[in-house]
Amino acid sequence: MDNLLILGAGGHGKVVAETAMLTGRWNNIAFLDNDNTLNRVLGIPVIGDFDTYLDHKKTYSNAIVAVGNNRNRHVWLTKLEKAGYKIPVIIHPSSIVSKFSGIESGTVVLANAVINANASIAQGCILNTSCTIDHDCVIGKGVHISPGVNVSGTVTINDYSWLGVGAKIVNNITIGSNAIVAAGAVVISDIPDSVMVAGVPAQIKKSFGDEL
Ligand SMILES: CC(C)(COP(=O)(O)OP(=O)(O)OC[C@H]1O[C@@H](n2cnc3c(N)ncnc32)[C@H](O)[C@@H]1OP(=O)(O)O)[C@@H](O)C(=O)NCCC(=O)NCCS
Repeated sequence: MDNLLILGAGGHGKVVAETAMLTGRWNNIAFLDNDNTLNRVLGIPVIGDFDTYLDHKKTYSNAIVAVGNNRNRHVWLTKLEKAGYKIPVIIHPSSIVSKFSGIESGTVVLANAVINANASIAQGCILNTSCTIDHDCVIGKGVHISPGVNVSGTVTINDYSWLGVGAKIVNNITIGSNAIVAAGAVVISDIPDSVMVAGVPAQIKKSFGDEL
């Protein structure tokens, strides 16, 4: 068994750590976090801040990033990978993942999530508690699908987008990159890049440019 370093000991970090424990794949888990008042979180040691990531390679061969900001998560995953860490996929034992789906490194699949046949999930995504991703979906890198989101079949969600808790996406939709779908929205038409949509049916409320 290997050892695992988790960058980020906040709320999402706690969930990722517990999920990692439940897989039984790691002997030893530690956090890095930029809050230097933290010593232990869930009993797991916090052994330095993010910038110390190169110092721990001898002990921790695997590393993953557990921060909510989609771009930051991906930036740090890329640094870790370049430094030679193995970047795992962490899958909660209660989730259901089709053997005909594909999930890239650095993605976490949390409790009770369901990923159906021929879905493809890129690097560094969060597939949060009880979300469902149906057949033939294509999910870009650094996407966060929040708890209780339902993504119907053949939906494409581009890089760094965030779907808020409980959102629902009907089939055959494309959601652009850097988009935010607000909590509870029902998406029934394509969504462009870099906008926030909300409501039932979802409508554009804000445009961001590319600053997200
Ligand atoms: C979308 C969200 C991020 C807020 O974004 P924001 O840019 O701060 O948006 P604002 O609060 O300025 O609201 C802008 C408009 O959208 C509306 N709006 C925001 N969230 C909404 C929602 N969930 N449903 C309906 N309307 C919503 C606001 O009422 C406002 O409408 P108005 O312009 O007519 O007054 C937040 O509402 C949300 O849904 N967060 C999801 C949280 C989540 O899923 N957490 C899980 C983490 S694991």
